[in-house]
Amino acid sequence: MNHQIEVCFSPAVFEDFFRPELNVVVVDVLRATSSICTAFINGAEKLIPIGNVEELKGFVNMGHVLAGERNGYTLDFVDFGNSPFNFTRDKVENKTVIYSTTNGTRAIQMASRCRNVIVGSFLNISSVCNWLDSQEEDVLVLCAGWKNRFSLEDTLLAGAICEKLVETGHFSTICDSAISAIDLWQLAKSDLMKTVEKCAQRHRLKQKGLDDVLEYCFTPDITDIIPVYGNGVLKPMIF
Ligand code: MLT
Repeated sequence: MNHQIEVCFSPAVFEDFFRPELNVVVVDVLRATSSICTAFINGAEKLIPIGNVEELKGFVNMGHVLAGERNGYTLDFVDFGNSPFNFTRDKVENKTVIYSTTNGTRAIQMASRCRNVIVGSFLNISSVCNWLDSQEEDVLVLCAGWKNRFSLEDTLLAGAICEKLVETGHFSTICDSAISAIDLWQLAKSDLMKTVEKCAQRHRLKQKGLDDVLEYCFTPDITDIIPVYGNGVLKPMIF
């Protein structure tokens, strides 16, 4: 049976794409979904995405690991910021990480009413696509973006996911966002980092000395782990 795939460029228009039966893959390449995948690669037990800073503060001194940023800056009451390189085994193995970021965690929570919500990055792209292809649902790629603005790097990943799923012959699209994302990905993929140099978030991270993660966040298939969101918690699924 053929299924549809769509791409939502911004959480601001998620409601226009929303259908309860959708399988949603949330992407935030720089850096939330790359960090979430890295946390599970390094043995985290679960991550709890939190939408706002005040709620995150409520978890201080409760025995959990706290991680988060706003506008890329590490919050002053957390254990560490949102670089994937912070989610090391010694810090997160077998731990619960309470986590809040500028865009990514809000996008994950926003999709909670859909049938399935998973986290995608370049790090787990093939596993994500294989799992989506094994299901019998239409797919929405939700780009976390930047403060409801279009994100080029999230769109590149969305295009790569759409390209893989369409190539299975089990998915098609009449969504201009998906078609545009595929075209952008196909224009960029032969020299990806050249296009990444254009990304606004790349320059925001560079200004803060946080762009050491760039090559890593665009490295495909470091892991088969798929973070799955349910009942307010992200847990790892091996597929
Ligand atoms: C986001 O949530 O948009 C990003 O993770 C922000 C960041 O890590 O700088």
